Amino acid sequence: MVAQRLDGKACAAKVEEELLGRIAKCREMMTQPHLAVVIVGDDPASHVYVGSKVRACERLGIRSTHIELPVTATEDEVRKTIESLNNQEDLHGILVQSPLPNHMDEEGLTDLIDPSKDVDGFHPQNLGRLVQGRMDGMLPCTPSGVMRMLSWAGIETEGKTAVVLGRSRIVGMPQSLLLGAKGVDSTVTVAHSRTKDAQSLCANADIIIAAVGRPEMVTADWVKEGAVVVDVGINRVEDDSRERGWRLAGDVHPDVGQKAAWLSPVPGGVGPMTIAMLMENTVRAAELSISF
Ligand code: GUN
Repeated sequence: MVAQRLDGKACAAKVEEELLGRIAKCREMMTQPHLAVVIVGDDPASHVYVGSKVRACERLGIRSTHIELPVTATEDEVRKTIESLNNQEDLHGILVQSPLPNHMDEEGLTDLIDPSKDVDGFHPQNLGRLVQGRMDGMLPCTPSGVMRMLSWAGIETEGKTAVVLGRSRIVGMPQSLLLGAKGVDSTVTVAHSRTKDAQSLCANADIIIAAVGRPEMVTADWVKEGAVVVDVGINRVEDDSRERGWRLAGDVHPDVGQKAAWLSPVPGGVGPMTIAMLMENTVRAAELSISF
């Protein structure tokens, strides 16, 4: 079997197209959706991601404020930045790019973001709603982007067995909650670094979401014929044949494309969906700020 491509780029383009009308309506109400992105330090990959977020804002007519703090910034400076953004009335979304430098308490800082501006969906109030099965809070962008892509492709989830590889706050844990939620109705197993035999769990799964950050870990022998495989990994691996000396690799080996029914590519799969969902959360936050 040759897998069909789960084309996140095409799905994201559709999401963005739908947002244009909503953004125009906000502007008629004298409100321009406005996102602030805060980045601390000089991690090159994080700067690339933040650049993509800012460019998406420009494409859609969302205002963006890009705040860069040096790696030497104190936690107190980040706290003050967040507090000032919370108080800015014409600002609807705040994103603090992860990871923060090691000397900072990332979760403690996330707790400070006004939940109504928490477009990442990482605030305990938003994650707590998700745990309760309420889908009306801000949902984390990567996992909700994966769900949107599955539904866009017409992939059935009800009664399916799903394995989520990874239990991170950003992807794995919220992803498992979304897959098991009422209306989605998959039966979910979360595998992590202490899981005894992730391979055989995957070999029995209808759906595999790989979010571990290990290049090409999921090989064809891990995958059941006809499974749906979503690759959330973005890893830089050394490659001397490239001028820049590295290439991007997902968590899934390309050979899985010979066995799965659906496979999302890296790049062009989940990445554009994360950004599209961030834009959607920002527009939603702006809409909710308007009193009709
Ligand atoms: N780092 C990697 N993914 C994300 C994300 O979705 N949000 C934030 N804030 N940081 C990230």
